[in-house]
Amino acid sequence: MQILQIISSARGAESFSTQLSQGIIDKLLAAHPGSTVVVRDLAKHPFPHLEEAHLQAYFTPAEGRSPEQQAAVRHSDEAIAEVMASDVLVIGSPFYNFTIPSSLKAWLDHLTRANITFRYTPTGPEGLITGKKVYVALASGGIYSEGPMQPYDFAAPYLRWMLGFLGMRDVTVARAEGVKLPEFQATAVQKGLAGITA
Ligand SMILES: Cc1cc2nc3c(=O)[nH]c(=O)nc-3n(C[C@H](O)[C@H](O)[C@H](O)COP(=O)(O)O)c2cc1C
Repeated sequence: MQILQIISSARGAESFSTQLSQGIIDKLLAAHPGSTVVVRDLAKHPFPHLEEAHLQAYFTPAEGRSPEQQAAVRHSDEAIAEVMASDVLVIGSPFYNFTIPSSLKAWLDHLTRANITFRYTPTGPEGLITGKKVYVALASGGIYSEGPMQPYDFAAPYLRWMLGFLGMRDVTVARAEGVKLPEFQATAVQKGLAGITA
């Protein structure tokens, strides 16, 4: 089994979303010995925001692309190839300002390509990244799985929708939540891992 780990926190080993991701990967490796892990660290190697060159390249057939357009499409091609080659994705995401960090959004923007990772059909959109299992490891300072802040979680619903749009409908969200609350911090990662079966 090939596991793709997406890191989007810049906090290295201190990161709760990365610790939770690692816990999920440890469970996967225990259940599926011999699996390989490919790490894509979006904090160390950020994907650029979509600029004019990217958009032009996307809508120019490969054989007609200029050298600049060929370079512009490289990030997207790499992201797509990595996802397509994997069986399982473990996406670590901090909760920033009620949603995902822009580093992860930029990666999703490069992954989302008409007629490659999704297409429109007469009956509606169809995601073309199929057969994947996805775990999202979400770390937040507050509590969003229940209680008064639940309606303001624009991270998990967005990721579920976006991944599903691309064809990845088997999504499990694990949360290390309340990490800024003293009574929750110490156990947040363990609690997030408790419900995960590999
Ligand atoms: C720029 C920034 C914005 C944040 N926004 C929120 C927020 O809206 N809600 C929340 O509960 N926590 C928020 N936090 C706290 C983080 O979600 C928390 O520190 C989490 O552990 C970050 O993930 P990481 O440990 O993987 O880096 C924010 C932190 C930062 C640095």
